[in-house]
Amino acid sequence: MLTGKNILLGITGGIAAYKTASLVRLLKKNGANVKVILTPAAKEFITPLTLSTLSENPVNTSFFDKNTGEWNNHVELGLWADLFVVAPATANTLAKMANGICDNLLLAVYLSCKSKVFIAPAMDLDMYIHPSTANNLKTLEDYGNVIIDAREGELASGLIGKGRMEEPEQIFEEIRTFFTKDKMLAGKRVLITAGPTHEKIDPVRFIGNNSTGKMGLFLAEEAINLGAEVTLVIGPNNLTINPLINCINIQSAQEMYEAVHQNVERADIIIMSAAVADYSPKIVSDIKIKKKTDTLTIELAPTKDILKSVGEIKTSKQLLVGFALETNNEKENATKKLQTKNLDLIVLNSLNDKGAGFGFNTNKVTIIDKNNNADEFELKSKSLVATDIFNKIISLLS
Ligand code: CTP
Repeated sequence: MLTGKNILLGITGGIAAYKTASLVRLLKKNGANVKVILTPAAKEFITPLTLSTLSENPVNTSFFDKNTGEWNNHVELGLWADLFVVAPATANTLAKMANGICDNLLLAVYLSCKSKVFIAPAMDLDMYIHPSTANNLKTLEDYGNVIIDAREGELASGLIGKGRMEEPEQIFEEIRTFFTKDKMLAGKRVLITAGPTHEKIDPVRFIGNNSTGKMGLFLAEEAINLGAEVTLVIGPNNLTINPLINCINIQSAQEMYEAVHQNVERADIIIMSAAVADYSPKIVSDIKIKKKTDTLTIELAPTKDILKSVGEIKTSKQLLVGFALETNNEKENATKKLQTKNLDLIVLNSLNDKGAGFGFNTNKVTIIDKNNNADEFELKSKSLVATDIFNKIISLLS
């Protein structure tokens, strides 16, 4: 299943380190080549001998071997890896990774690594919920790494809460999914909308919303990983866009409409995750509106519903996915949108779910199809939500 795949496993100094022996066994049993890096602290929790025996490769623990002077080239290790998995990742290593600190071999490999990086944190519950850990995880996710969220349960401290490393079997499952879906969308063209729109009031003001565009960007990156050619039509944002994505920057709903219609005909899969303004000022003032009166009324006119307009012209070969952000009667409203806009799938996120929606790096979605099948997912990173959405799309394509 993983034959020939090179998996680099970075182990840091937490009690969950002992569990990585089973992860190495699972990877080896499924045909992967495994190399292991241990941080100095990790050696206190699991021995290099155990891991070199299981991985059938020497274990790397420092920049060079003190006895032979042999250099462990971090750049070569980073290039060797098809996937770098850091498990368990302690609070200390997360903080260093998030800030580019490079005082051991694992961190040097991380900084020079060209492959995708999976990070499975593990620590005590209070450390896990500390704002600095949360910020470090957010930063690492923004850099494009996949966070395999810690679980709730009994911790080494005896306390019960979130902080247990995900089980090796589940980490293995994430790795397997990452490789087996490899390039399943080769030859397909994917068109994605993302972010907010800004509707001009005058030269200095606009009507906007809190969308960051992250969900759309993660979808675009997932599509690239799957081998697709990707066009991303995105509103104003602060994101770093992967150069492999054909990115079209727009400001208003009208500009998004035009960019979508210029690209829709050649698209096989269309996903509209943008938070498009429903109304736009009827008249845009050429000069800055002065503060003259006690009240100000701006007349708004409806924008074009881009998703609906694509639903009206889509062919049977095209797959159309919409998003719905609802606060009440969530499923009912989303299903109605699926039908009226002629969609194949709708991704529902509810503002009632903590950690879901605008600005968060996590999301909790339900994916509903035309036959009214609803898959409800747990709260997870937006990158893994993107994986769930594409898994569903791929199942419909086949
Ligand atoms: N959408 C769009 N063009 C618009 C408005 C929405 O393409 N002018 C798309 C969004 O990108 C999303 C879906 O339609 O995929 C649903 O957006 P949402 O704002 O939840 O729904 P609306 O249709 O605008 O309905 P309402 O705001 O009344 O819930």
